[in-house]
Amino acid sequence: MKNIKACLFDLDGVIVDTAKYHYIAWKELANELGFDFTLEDNEKLKGVSRMTSLDILLSIGGIELGEDKKLELATKKNDNYLQYILKMGPEEILPGTKEFLEVLRKENIKIALGSASKNAMLILERLELTGYFDAIVDGTHVAKAKPDPEVFLQGAEKLGVAPTECVVFEDAEAGVEAALAGGMKCVGIGSSEVLGKAHLVVDGLHKMSIQKLGLLD
Ligand code: BG6
Ligand code: MG
Repeated sequence: MKNIKACLFDLDGVIVDTAKYHYIAWKELANELGFDFTLEDNEKLKGVSRMTSLDILLSIGGIELGEDKKLELATKKNDNYLQYILKMGPEEILPGTKEFLEVLRKENIKIALGSASKNAMLILERLELTGYFDAIVDGTHVAKAKPDPEVFLQGAEKLGVAPTECVVFEDAEAGVEAALAGGMKCVGIGSSEVLGKAHLVVDGLHKMSIQKLGLLD
């Protein structure tokens, strides 16, 4: 590898499928508030921060609330979500993740996490993956959400590498935009219809290899 010195990973949707648990918890909240929340609606929350997710959900239900009430509902949803997260284990790591992280280690490429989630540390612990990461930046560290590049720029800084030496792995459009805004290369995880702006799009980390990473070098 000539230029690539680090890989930065989004968590939800790249390393683990937490969207299904977010969905159950948001749907329960919507139902309590008296409206339905569909799987299609859930797509709009991918990569989006907790409070913005709540705003989107409330707008679907046509409900307007004050800040205190919104904080209360976000906490309630998170407490519900945590029940599922606490039951997770390494078997929920998405295919190919560990293998690819091992390859990166062997190649001396640094590894960081760049996630919007405030539960990221807990999730990595449950998956027994914490030890792979040289730096972790999550929703508790950043002021500006993706598509702002802050989360990835902080990651690069913690690793001591330049943004141009980083490759970001992202499943959300806002995340791809964040990577590009930070001057980084980006691999989209999912469909090229949604992630077309990324330099490369693959189905999942099981489709990644050092050779494919080399195409971005
Ligand atoms: C992102 C998810 O990674 O984290 C979003 O894609 C989620 O769906 C966001 O809303 C915030 O997560 P948390 O765990 O802080 O509520
Ligand atoms: Mg994601």
